Amino acid sequence: MRKQIFIVGISLLAISLFFNYYMETSYLFSVIMIAFISIGFYNSIQKKHAILRNFPIIGYFRYIFESISPEIQQYFIERSTDGKPFSRNQRSLVYQRAKNISSNTPFGTQLDLNHSNYEGIKHSVFPTKVNEELSRVLVGGKDCKQPYSASLLNISAMSFGSLSENAIIALNKGAQRGHFYHNTGEGGLTEFHQNGGDITWQIGTGYFGCRDDRGGFDGVRFAEKANLPEVKMIEIKLSQGAKPGHGGVLPAAKNTEQIAKIRGVIPHTLILSPPSHSAFSNAKELVEFIDRLRQLSNGKPIGFKLCIGQTSEFEAICHEMIAADCYPDFITVDGAEGGTGAAPLEFSDGVGMPFEPALIFVNKTLINLNIRDKIRIIGSGKIISGYSILHAIALGADICNSARGFMFSLGCIQALRCHNNQCPTGVATQDKMLMKGLVVTDKSERVYHFHKNTLHAANELLAAAGKSSYEEVDGSIFMRGDEFTHLSDLYFPNNLGNITTHLKKKEGF
Ligand SMILES: Cc1cc2nc3c(=O)[nH]c(=O)nc-3n(C[C@H](O)[C@H](O)[C@H](O)COP(=O)(O)O)c2cc1C
Repeated sequence: MRKQIFIVGISLLAISLFFNYYMETSYLFSVIMIAFISIGFYNSIQKKHAILRNFPIIGYFRYIFESISPEIQQYFIERSTDGKPFSRNQRSLVYQRAKNISSNTPFGTQLDLNHSNYEGIKHSVFPTKVNEELSRVLVGGKDCKQPYSASLLNISAMSFGSLSENAIIALNKGAQRGHFYHNTGEGGLTEFHQNGGDITWQIGTGYFGCRDDRGGFDGVRFAEKANLPEVKMIEIKLSQGAKPGHGGVLPAAKNTEQIAKIRGVIPHTLILSPPSHSAFSNAKELVEFIDRLRQLSNGKPIGFKLCIGQTSEFEAICHEMIAADCYPDFITVDGAEGGTGAAPLEFSDGVGMPFEPALIFVNKTLINLNIRDKIRIIGSGKIISGYSILHAIALGADICNSARGFMFSLGCIQALRCHNNQCPTGVATQDKMLMKGLVVTDKSERVYHFHKNTLHAANELLAAAGKSSYEEVDGSIFMRGDEFTHLSDLYFPNNLGNITTHLKKKEGF
């Protein structure tokens, strides 16, 4: 291939030079040919890229198409129901709710309702009146001196660093307008989070914002920020669904001077937070740490976030709480299908329990140990619609968090570029030029509307199920496709047998 390319290139150059010399045509084509031949020559001798070495010019098409493959997939291949992690229909729902325009769909469902994975709500023939008010849930156990009344839907942890400054400001302003909380993520509490919205301050293993000179936890620095009036709750991050057992990842491309200064790290380098906390290393010490943070924050609600792995460890933590008579005010359960700015694929695809079984497990464990009434459960796992809110509540959540739902409300198009600083919508990048595309005033309104309209949709579903409050919601109002399969086997076994015999006869067995 190399040879042919050079023969064609040099022949075209010779023809072009002939025309330049004898017919006095423009030299532009010759210059382009010289550039191509030089690039081709360089590629054919370089040793890094086999494709370019073998196909010195057309090999570039592979790289071009590869770089735009998410767009090709999304614009030309993807069907409305099958985009990953979120389908086009799911994304459109958020966009419409965020823009405050109708999200009604025409003609009927596009889902296969007879599939065993189908899930739906068992509506009532006597629906209740739709509540126009958006529910709130009080967080704060017996030792909490400053309980917080939380919205049913809030912004899940996403740091300044993984998200842009404009994205954080827009989220916070939206939270302020809709009166719900904004979780800072493990990157720390920054000036961009301080735009009037309620804050849940997350403390990760890097202790950003409350870090001593050796990278450990600093109680004095913690107390300074924890006692700010906008900080309503504090969340200790044990693990995150997309990378449980792995610390936070801030790619070098996103680690700007500004972020490095906030976090106390070296700019333009890859920052890996440690996988575990240095302030505690077992269940007993975790419970003691919860108590310490409660004292330092003058009794604000303290909780922890985790993705369930070894269930016995969670049970051990619960036993320690009971032994010490010290409980977190809330536990946030993240599913393995959770999102991230950047994570190793092995961790995203192969570690941790998915949201649904994890939530059921945590809820049941707390009930079995008689401590469910002391702790609020917050669920985060692809919650983007009224349906997913009701579903999470039925499985055991009291409150819901959404990360990627709020990213969509900011204009995220699922370009899958959060990790390389090239997010085209300015949501998950530190590139100032790209960030300019995200206009705070417009997007904070969208954040507000997404929250409000989604909760209104949840209220409508609640009414359709014949319930008047979220406390009445449990698993009994949900049905699954595999129930129908089971029922048909149960009620019509002979019928099925007859069909099988008929088919066998027809096929000559
Ligand atoms: C861009 C991005 C950054 C995130 N950063 C954090 C973080 O700093 N701390 C954390 O606990 N979770 C983090 N998460 C996880 C979310 O808070 C959330 O638990 C998870 O994505 C599941 O929610 P979702 O399905 O609504 O996205 C991040 C998620 C995304 C998409």
